[in-house]
Amino acid sequence: MTDKQMPASSPGRLRQTEIFVTGVGGKRPRVPVSAERLEAEAKRFMSREAAAYVIGSAGTEATARANRAAFDKRPILPRVLRDVSKRDLSVTLFGRPHRAPILLAPIGVLELAHRDADLAVARAARGEGVAFVFSNQASVAMEKCAAAMGDAPRWFQLYWSSDDEFVRSVVRRAENCGCEAIVLTLDTTLLGWRPRDLDLGYLPFLRGLGLAQYLGDPVFREKIPPSPPEAGFRPKGLGILKAAMSLRRKGKEFGLSMQQMRCAVAHFVASYSRPDLTWNDIARLREMTKLPILLKGVRSADDAKLAAQHGVNGLIVSNHGGRQVDGERGSLDNLPGVVAAAGNMPVLFDSGIRTGADVFKALALGAKAVLLGRPYVYGLALGGEAGARDVIQNVIAELDLTTALAGVGAVSEIDRHCLVPE
Ligand code: GLV
Repeated sequence: MTDKQMPASSPGRLRQTEIFVTGVGGKRPRVPVSAERLEAEAKRFMSREAAAYVIGSAGTEATARANRAAFDKRPILPRVLRDVSKRDLSVTLFGRPHRAPILLAPIGVLELAHRDADLAVARAARGEGVAFVFSNQASVAMEKCAAAMGDAPRWFQLYWSSDDEFVRSVVRRAENCGCEAIVLTLDTTLLGWRPRDLDLGYLPFLRGLGLAQYLGDPVFREKIPPSPPEAGFRPKGLGILKAAMSLRRKGKEFGLSMQQMRCAVAHFVASYSRPDLTWNDIARLREMTKLPILLKGVRSADDAKLAAQHGVNGLIVSNHGGRQVDGERGSLDNLPGVVAAAGNMPVLFDSGIRTGADVFKALALGAKAVLLGRPYVYGLALGGEAGARDVIQNVIAELDLTTALAGVGAVSEIDRHCLVPE
């Protein structure tokens, strides 16, 4: 079945038809449709370290479980006999129309999932007409991804490093790459306590992975010290050889010697986190760019009010997929309060989205759009660009069908009445 035979407004039926008709010949989707099977299958494709990093969350992973539970306790209340033959999934964010209320979340170190990493995702985003939020911890520099995206929308996610000059530089580069918004992540001013990574003693950045936005940046490069500062600890064990190979490979990619790579990694470790950030710093970011600024990692309604007072343009309710603080409530539980406090600012939602029905619920609670995270990484792990595209298509298809079956024609009409009253 081709696009021409099926109305463009039916991505759900189109995708179902593709899978079922292909299945008549006995061929099953390479990328599992069910969220649980998708994760399990991707886990088999990744190294132990990669799987721990991508799948893992903070502490006992109670927050990650709460993220899912928050969806389960909010049932949809479908209505019937409302002509839903025409559907419109599009939304407009900051004046730019988006095909669907779904953006690809910024996720670091995608080379752990697939060698084409961010580049494959950039192509997938372009192919599916959804926006990609470039990660500050990307494996491929934003310039390369932007070049692969044509006119497709892209944003840039910023970790505010302790070096403002570097921050200025990446923000300028993002503007030059056609990024349409800056997403300042505030829930990771320090790295959370992640037992899966700790038990493997594995942090990808120490092997030079996930540093593409830094290693090619002129300001960062200029500040690479001539010798690594003493960390107080030394690597132990035979793995040191593998780690050195990884550094050498990355060094080659960025034209840096082994010694420079060691120093670059040490400089990154010393400067990436910024626990002293306060609301007063927002004005400095505002000075750096005219692009819309969104704050990601907002959970509290009080913080939403402060954000409104500090002149930001949007909020992303998120707990970083449960990767930062163990023992929080589910991200979706924070959404209504933040929406109520945000005034006219658009609020987006992140953390726990696995399916199209999840997207529907987040929209019903006031999100303008959502960020899809781990699922597309699982698709990437299983099939590169094509695998990521499969996942995006599946989520959009289910959103389309759920919207129609709930008795709604356009996603802009999804509201609280679409859920069972609390
Ligand atoms: C970084 O953003 C991480 O969650 O590991």
